[in-house]
Amino acid sequence: MAETLPGLAGKRALVTGASSGLGAHFAQRLAAHGADVVLAARRLDALQSVASMVEQYGRARCVALDVTSAASRAALVEEAGPIDILVNNAGLVREGPALVHAEEDWDLVMDTNLKGMFFLAQALAAGMRERGGGSIINVASILGLRQAGGVVSYAVSKAGVVQLTRTLALEWARYGIRVNALAPGYIDTDINRDFWQTEAGRALVSRIPQRRLGQLEDLDGLLLLLASDASRYMTGTVLAVDGGHLVNTL
Ligand SMILES: NC(=O)c1ccc[n+]([C@@H]2O[C@H](COP(=O)([O-])OP(=O)(O)OC[C@H]3O[C@@H](n4cnc5c(N)ncnc54)[C@H](OP(=O)(O)O)[C@@H]3O)[C@@H](O)[C@H]2O)c1
Repeated sequence: MAETLPGLAGKRALVTGASSGLGAHFAQRLAAHGADVVLAARRLDALQSVASMVEQYGRARCVALDVTSAASRAALVEEAGPIDILVNNAGLVREGPALVHAEEDWDLVMDTNLKGMFFLAQALAAGMRERGGGSIINVASILGLRQAGGVVSYAVSKAGVVQLTRTLALEWARYGIRVNALAPGYIDTDINRDFWQTEAGRALVSRIPQRRLGQLEDLDGLLLLLASDASRYMTGTVLAVDGGHLVNTL
């Protein structure tokens, strides 16, 4: 009989930022591979419509979460129950030149993308430790590894996600908790679709060695690898899925 990679049957996954974009897709893929999924974000109505798609594959529950709020994170951890796989995906960007970047935008981006990510991981790691382990997948970005103009707080927050991932991997390996980061390149989603039709958008795509944008499905291989026990000896890695964007020519 042919051997197959470990699936996710019996695993309980939590996806933050599951109300749209990457998170909505991740929730469906994890369910399609056997996980029970808790979907979390601020907009419950949007979460519920994603949940109806997830339920084609498996069990889904929606819990409201503002990842910047300690009380909201605590309520989520209580309501979600035991979690084996955390996909720390909630995130946002505030664009504009660094010279005029507002302090409130800096704080919002850091609180959402970095501080919220850490404290949610911390809250769930306690239970993972008690049960002998878990997998945490932090969604970083190639902007945490290279630079682009107009996204200073976002790029710094994602660089923080990279170091957060490595640091937590080191501290929590002894508890069986693996912490890895998925660093997407530019992914074609509803949010940015119009931009790709502009001259600047087309120029950006021309600098990607594979000469195309990423599609949500391009992230599936790494998501499922990191979520499953197939990656049991991987922790502290930061892996890009970017069509070669990070290695484009000087
Ligand atoms: N799209 C790309 O090309 C790309 C590339 C690299 C990395 N990423 C990363 O991928 C992740 C998802 O981005 P996306 O492109 O899918 O964008 P998106 O469609 O705007 O999704 C962002 C998600 O984060 C949630 N969110 C924002 N603030 C939140 C908060 N305070 N508490 C809880 N949830 C919050 C949003 O839900 P609510 O508004 O309902 O709260 C939404 O579900 C982000 O971390 C982003 O940095 C995206």
